[in-house]
Amino acid sequence: MEATFRIVISWSRRNLTFRPAEATLAVAERGAIAYIKRMKRPILLHPDPRLKKHCAPVDDLSDDLRTLADDMLSTMYDAPGVGLAAPQVGVLSRLIVLDCVKEEGEAPRPLIMFNPEVIAASDEMNTYEEGCLSIPDQYADVTRPSEVEVRWINREGKEQMESFDGLWATCVQHEIDHLDGKLFIDYLKPLKRQMITRKMTKLKRELARG
Ligand code: NI
Repeated sequence: MEATFRIVISWSRRNLTFRPAEATLAVAERGAIAYIKRMKRPILLHPDPRLKKHCAPVDDLSDDLRTLADDMLSTMYDAPGVGLAAPQVGVLSRLIVLDCVKEEGEAPRPLIMFNPEVIAASDEMNTYEEGCLSIPDQYADVTRPSEVEVRWINREGKEQMESFDGLWATCVQHEIDHLDGKLFIDYLKPLKRQMITRKMTKLKRELARG
């Protein structure tokens, strides 16, 4: 992957200039955080206690959960982002969605993962600049294993296993972290984390005021 490529997990590229019309209609002047008010499933913003919770495994793949997964994918594409975890829409179940296809013109590859688990990780590490739909406009370098093998249950209830590298590896680890109440800012030094949290608290106050 070229060094200049900026990846941002659960979020768009930082330099993204495309902004869907609905976004600007919904919250004019709100810029990058416009997606918050037009989502099919509203995305929770840090700090929120629900983003710090350990999520329960999915035992029974109900139609409600499949609908939730589909809604999460459309919410993610809409944002736009490359990954989203159920706790980010307030559901404390082990479910993530992702699609890290980044080349224009390349076919999308939406993945729905119930009970995803990293079963092996490379010793080799990779550092990417990450972001998160629950922490809009904040980015930081995070180092993670560069390759991981993941096992999950797909939308049809079948077990699947696959190795991921590059952006996919970073994204899937970032999303699985969400299921354990862990955010990318938890990898940062306390001072930087507190700074981001303060900014987010301020942003949420402003949003609440409308
Ligand atoms: Ni995230």
